[in-house]
Amino acid sequence: MKILVTGGLGFIGSHTVVELQNEGYEVVIIDNCSNSSEDVLVGIENITGKKPFFEKIDLRDRKKVNDFFKKHSDVAGVIHFAASKAVGESVKIPLTYYENNIGTLVYLLQELQEKDDANFIFSSSCTVYGQADELPITENAPVKTAESPYGNTKQIGEEIIRDTCKVTPKLKAIALRYFNPIGAHKSTEIGELPLGVPQNLVPFITQTAMGLRDKLSVFGDDYDTPDGTCIRDYIHVVDLAKAHVIALTRLLKNKNKENYEVFNLGTGTGSSVLEVIKSFEKVSEQSLNYAIVDRREGDITAAYADTTLANDELGWKAELDLDEAMRTAWKWEQKVRNK
Ligand code: WQD
Repeated sequence: MKILVTGGLGFIGSHTVVELQNEGYEVVIIDNCSNSSEDVLVGIENITGKKPFFEKIDLRDRKKVNDFFKKHSDVAGVIHFAASKAVGESVKIPLTYYENNIGTLVYLLQELQEKDDANFIFSSSCTVYGQADELPITENAPVKTAESPYGNTKQIGEEIIRDTCKVTPKLKAIALRYFNPIGAHKSTEIGELPLGVPQNLVPFITQTAMGLRDKLSVFGDDYDTPDGTCIRDYIHVVDLAKAHVIALTRLLKNKNKENYEVFNLGTGTGSSVLEVIKSFEKVSEQSLNYAIVDRREGDITAAYADTTLANDELGWKAELDLDEAMRTAWKWEQKVRNK
């Protein structure tokens, strides 16, 4: 079966391509390489022995999207990662985010509406919850006003898919709300490659340890948490990738209960920034240079997932812990910098 993975050269996309191939799916990648490199194809092939078919297409080009679906009419399912995802950047250039994250979603759904059997997995985010009133966070937690245009594009994206599924019975879709993806494939063939100064915690930690950054700034230790630093649910990217394959297979085998479903993807365990640093120091056997600074605007105090629904309905549970994620993130950073 042929599966389209948009953004398949990206961090989560490339790990999902590997797991799809491991399950025997034929993979076609669309990526515009705005935040990724074609070299990732080599990494994927080195892991699985199979080079995915790749087309460099910008999903904002409506005609190219239509031509693709004409050429690949046998695509059985789509996993849609391609989007802009930097929270801070989205505040500065909102229209770029709305065009790239919403416009392209509409083009993809318009193509899928034409198919007799369409299966769609959407990359969403725990960002839609904002600071949830109750922890752990279930899928029924209220979606709050987004703190950023990026978060808003995920909320709007889910609503667009929900509304389209309502009037398109032959379209089955699942939105996967990721918590904080970290780590890398154990082979060190693929991993996270942030362009420029990393916005996220873990790549900043590994780049600091590598000497690329002077020190890590810990954004505040005066939150209402046990050690004062923010709590997040850090999920290994390989666990996350496996969940995508399970969710897609659920749709392909018509095991879904509704034709639009939502699942949280996290470990169910919250870790503070200081606990992440401690984990890194343990697995790398070196101390990290960091300093406590002021809070970062827009950060929420704590978020971690109630994973009951994914456990029960998908039969999926995260298997890799924080130490393993930090170990693979560090191995990957060393590999990339010592090339
Ligand atoms: C985690 C914690 C920071 C950097 C974002 C998006 C979310 C998803 C994951 C895309 C926070 C602290 C961070 C640093 C720090 N992205 N931190 N120093 O903000 O939870 O989630 O990325 O889907 O949608 O919102 O992740 O890694 O930026 O921050 O102290 O240099 O680490 O304050 O508490 P976040 P993050």
